[in-house]
Amino acid sequence: MTSPDKPRPDAAAASFLPGPPIDRTRVEGWQRWIGTRELFEPAPVLSKGQYAQMTPRRRRLYDLHRLATHSSLPVLSTPMSDAVAWLVKARIADGSYSHKAGIRTGVMVNGGGAQGKTETVCAALAAFEAEWLEVNQFMNPEAMEGTRDLLAPVAYVRCPVKATPVSTCQRILDFYGEDYKNMRQEDLIRTVNASISAHATKALVIDDITRLKLHRESDQDVLDLLLEVMSMSVTLILVGVGIPSSGLLRRGRFDPVAKQWIFPPVRDRGRSPNPEAATQHERRFEMIELEPFSYDSAAQTNTWISHLVAVEKSLRLLDDTDGMLSGGSMPEYLFGRTNGVVGLLEKLIQRGCRLAIENGSERLDTTLLNRCRVSPTDLPDLDAESGEQPLIPPIKNPPKKKRGRNTVFDDSGPGTEAAG
Ligand SMILES: Nc1ncnc2c1ncn2[C@@H]1O[C@H](COP(=O)(O)OP(=O)(O)OP(=O)(O)O)[C@@H](O)[C@H]1O
Ligand SMILES: [Mg+2]
Repeated sequence: MTSPDKPRPDAAAASFLPGPPIDRTRVEGWQRWIGTRELFEPAPVLSKGQYAQMTPRRRRLYDLHRLATHSSLPVLSTPMSDAVAWLVKARIADGSYSHKAGIRTGVMVNGGGAQGKTETVCAALAAFEAEWLEVNQFMNPEAMEGTRDLLAPVAYVRCPVKATPVSTCQRILDFYGEDYKNMRQEDLIRTVNASISAHATKALVIDDITRLKLHRESDQDVLDLLLEVMSMSVTLILVGVGIPSSGLLRRGRFDPVAKQWIFPPVRDRGRSPNPEAATQHERRFEMIELEPFSYDSAAQTNTWISHLVAVEKSLRLLDDTDGMLSGGSMPEYLFGRTNGVVGLLEKLIQRGCRLAIENGSERLDTTLLNRCRVSPTDLPDLDAESGEQPLIPPIKNPPKKKRGRNTVFDDSGPGTEAAG
């Protein structure tokens, strides 16, 4: 028999270690994300008694597994994200299953920073891709094998911070792993067209599109390029913060009957493989807003509370987590701390859980959460200049410091000045 404290292969311990980093903006990374995104096993629920009976080593591993669990909280279904996912998946399917040549209606997903746009859209893409591959394999298995180097039904690209036509094309080609050394803009655009068609891509997502500043005349080239993609029987999904106030819609007009933004034909510069088709038709986009939770009516408050109930089920604190976030004054408190933004709630809860485990309280309450701050540096992926940083509400009632309390482990974070 092995001693419980001796290092040994441990299936439960190994299961929570993440693999190599996943970059969804490359086709291999995208496929790895698709293949692994539902594999994480959260730490088991244990009582205080069971925890106390563990050896110190098992307890340490369990704590790390809990840490992994709180750092990998699930993306939950919310009425707002469901509406966005439905529209994205529906429009991609409408376009992909259509036998007609020509332009597919695109979707613009607009919303504030950290509200779940990226995760919601990626989950919708993953659902479409799984269904598309399954149907294709079922209907025509021979066509799947060997006909193409790499089948990529969806392509996911993020706009570089200061996007240009060249850098945008390069990002698209990066997804497919295409070489573009020494290519001029025209060649890049031709290669983008060729890659989309060679990989049988049905949907192209450009995330963080509002990083594309359309102030200068030449910036419009990127937009024209993207609009041209719509002539390749691809559904274009643009995701960004503040799309209406960005230059993106400047050349578009809103059709109130169809509830769509209409873009005039792309200027013919002889770049398209089929310039006539590219210049004949308008491009249309449906715009959908991914809203944060709100606290204005009883129904909205209940939606927020239901979300908190779902979140608290994922927590692995030894104190029973039922009602820990959704009971008493917690919903109102958490709304005040996050403005109903899912990404801020997630960060606050993660901070709180770490502190609750470290100080042994094993419980989230307002006193503990008042010691946890979320600051812009906790959201390093966001480009402040593009308006991606959400407004982080200050802590309303910081606790009065009691004399003698050990504050060494307080999570003051770099945003201390934000405290009200
Ligand atoms: N429906 C959800 N339920 C729970 N957590 C969510 C949900 N949607 C997103 N999150 C979490 O919120 C965080 C921010 O999400 P995401 O990156 O998708 O936001 P975003 O709107 O794309 O932000 P940005 O404007 O910065 O690109 C992520 O860590 C994600 O796990
Ligand atoms: Mg995002």
